[in-house]
Amino acid sequence: MKFLDLKDIAERDMELVNPTSAEKVLAVGRALGLNAASRVIDFGSGYAEMLTLWAEAFGIAGDGVELRPLACERARRKLTEHGLADRIQFTARAPPTTPSPPTPTTSLLAWARRSCGAATV
Ligand SMILES: C[S@@+](CC[C@H](N)C(=O)[O-])C[C@H]1O[C@@H](n2cnc3c(N)ncnc32)[C@H](O)[C@@H]1O
Repeated sequence: MKFLDLKDIAERDMELVNPTSAEKVLAVGRALGLNAASRVIDFGSGYAEMLTLWAEAFGIAGDGVELRPLACERARRKLTEHGLADRIQFTARAPPTTPSPPTPTTSLLAWARRSCGAATV
């Protein structure tokens, strides 16, 4: 079984896929001053829960980009059920076929290793 298939199964009862809560996501939206003139892009948008919360609370428009077909399907279904499909667009992104360049996280780890020594990171 492929890793992304395992993710689909493990997350079947989840809406937010981050160690956070709807209340915190809404607090971020308030802090950012999101409103009906805002357009938010969520790269790696999962099941569109952040965009849904912000669209319902603050009236944003937005775009979700997600690589897993099942997540895109769930997200589009949710947006339709919530009457948001006209305001939130969802793009299925094909998985990369070549290895990705180092991400900021891996760069940060490399920096931490250089600075602190491999044993502490
Ligand atoms: C931690 S989840 C967060 C989902 C959502 N933003 C949330 O908070 O509920 C990250 C998502 O990014 C997607 N993802 C990872 N790499 C991606 C890429 N290169 N392009 C598009 N989506 C990606 C994963 O499939 C996963 O659904």
